[in-house]
Amino acid sequence: MAASGTEAVITVQRPTTATVLIVDDEDTTRNLCRDVVADAGLRTRTASTTEQALEILDQSPIDLVITDLRVPQLGGLELLKRIRGTYAQTAVIVLTQYGTIESAVEATRMGAADYVTKPFHVPELRNKIDRVVRSLEIDQENRVLREQLRSRPGFGGLLGVSPKMQRVYRLIEKVSQHNYPVLILGESGTGKELVARSMHFSGPRQNRPFVPVDCSALVPTLIESELFGYVKGAFTGALHSKTGLMEAAGNGTLFLDEIGDMPIDLQAKLLRALQEREIKPVGSTERVSISTRVVAATNRDLEFAVREGQFRQDLFFRLNVVQIKLPPLRERKSDIPLLVNSFLEKFSEPTGRVRTVSEDAMAQLIAYDWPGNVRELENAIERAVALGSGPILHAGDLPSNLHYGAHDRLRQTDEVLPLEELERRAIMRALRESSGDKLAAARLLGIGKTTLYRKLKQYGSESESPAPMN
Ligand SMILES: Nc1ncnc2c1ncn2[C@@H]1O[C@H](COP(=O)(O)OP(=O)(O)OP(=O)(O)O)[C@@H](O)[C@H]1O
Ligand SMILES: [Mg+2]
Repeated sequence: MAASGTEAVITVQRPTTATVLIVDDEDTTRNLCRDVVADAGLRTRTASTTEQALEILDQSPIDLVITDLRVPQLGGLELLKRIRGTYAQTAVIVLTQYGTIESAVEATRMGAADYVTKPFHVPELRNKIDRVVRSLEIDQENRVLREQLRSRPGFGGLLGVSPKMQRVYRLIEKVSQHNYPVLILGESGTGKELVARSMHFSGPRQNRPFVPVDCSALVPTLIESELFGYVKGAFTGALHSKTGLMEAAGNGTLFLDEIGDMPIDLQAKLLRALQEREIKPVGSTERVSISTRVVAATNRDLEFAVREGQFRQDLFFRLNVVQIKLPPLRERKSDIPLLVNSFLEKFSEPTGRVRTVSEDAMAQLIAYDWPGNVRELENAIERAVALGSGPILHAGDLPSNLHYGAHDRLRQTDEVLPLEELERRAIMRALRESSGDKLAAARLLGIGKTTLYRKLKQYGSESESPAPMN
């Protein structure tokens, strides 16, 4: 699905100037090649051994390698083989000696883009370089286009253009085709249920039932009979047999929401059901086989619950086959305008009034930290639309805690704070500004990435640990 009012703009960037690595132990050929390449307006690097060449390839992006086949130590063919194995996007032109056409053929068979026989004429080499670089450019343009087509403003009801959400969409797409359990983690209001739904409705089970079970809302004594069903007379008041939700989900998806709140004694029964793919309705002696897919979600730190003995480790392992961790809204602020506009449209629809948000109001919406995540944002917009008077939403129409939030932050920066707290805030700020990209945040802070990781670990905040799966 696409967000209304947000169309993906496809722009083709010109690839940056290509870098060409010339590998030859003969100074004259190397220098001549370098001049031809530089003349073509491309950047050059040179190496006289394969070892040097591999080192350069390891350290910097190289678009094209021009290598002699008789270069020490490994030889050009082995170098070509390694480039094909490790640097799939690097093209290779080989230089062969006159009369050794077999090796040139062998090189093309191994994936060289072209070959030039020594001694060569400058225009011939120049033509071949031009051709290869042009095809590299086309490849790169196609890659950029494909990437842009992939990046969407939304997926299955989820909205967000941020790289973190794009990663979530890709993961959903991948796991929706399979049967294994998925554990969705994230703070309250980050969209865990929406992810479970989009996983179900974009996969092969879309025409089967999607059965949500709120493990925190069920009365503990009833969870078992709800999940597994019961037979007539199983307990007082069981006047009829009832199919449990696990069985009712059939070949669909059973969504165990708030799994962290499931009573420990029931966890063992759930584990057995998942392992044996069989259940026994309460009061029954017969076992019923189940084929439903299980997706669980929680905003609790399950690993902590396991350490505290509140959650069974074996059940955690069973459910945690693939983990989807949803980023809190404050770590993907670039998505706020899209969400605001979409909620605005949704809530102003009944009144028919077209509304927009003033720049001031949008700035406040972006500045606020949204501890209640998307749900809080959605509620704030709903309220503002209901209470606002004109077609434009102004900062004054927004809930007052948004203003306090901004004010508090200003005030706090003036306070004298312990160094450690200042450091923590600087790190959080840098992470927010770099949309959670730790390398970029470390650069902003002028520290190494390992130092940043160490400090994040020291603070021990769940939301700052590296994403579990890319
Ligand atoms: N990425 C998103 N795009 C659009 N709407 C979203 C997104 N994420 C969440 N929402 C909306 O926010 C609200 C909360 O989402 P959801 O119920 O899925 O959150 P949750 O993570 O399950 O929260 P909780 O832990 O409190 O149960 C819903 O109305 C949902 O439609
Ligand atoms: Mg939920």
